[in-house]
Amino acid sequence: MKIVIGCDHGALELKKEVLKVLAEFKDIETEDVGTFDTESVDYPDIAEKVCGKITKGEADRGIVLCGTGIGISIAANKIKGIRAALCGDVFSARMSREHNDANVLAMGGRVTGFGPAGEIVRTWVTTEFSQGERHIRRIEKMMALENK
Ligand code: RB5
Repeated sequence: MKIVIGCDHGALELKKEVLKVLAEFKDIETEDVGTFDTESVDYPDIAEKVCGKITKGEADRGIVLCGTGIGISIAANKIKGIRAALCGDVFSARMSREHNDANVLAMGGRVTGFGPAGEIVRTWVTTEFSQGERHIRRIEKMMALENK
């Protein structure tokens, strides 16, 4: 599985930590699209870079990080085909995969500590979509909203 990751200046340290966690998984390839320093950047640009890789089929899933995780998750969810889940706990991370088939995980570098973030990432990358009929129906309805 290929995971593309990006952050704004508010989550630079969290991104480094998440990359360390992802390196634990031999079957995960990562691509880091920045930002790479503390200079202020606009999180919608990062969301666009990460999600563009997914919608073009160049990555399977993405992780987006900003100060709160809020702005970058809202931006990601404006992009067709993206289901971004802002998670601050392991249960939400698991549900976002099992029920929502989230293809993007968002977290906040000023909100979630390294320990919990690591567990969220481990859970999110190892949890499969449940394939439940009701969840497929709801996801189809969710995605149809993009065209209304
Ligand atoms: C940047 O200062 C901050 O607004 C951003 O990282 C994020 O928290 C927005 O939702």
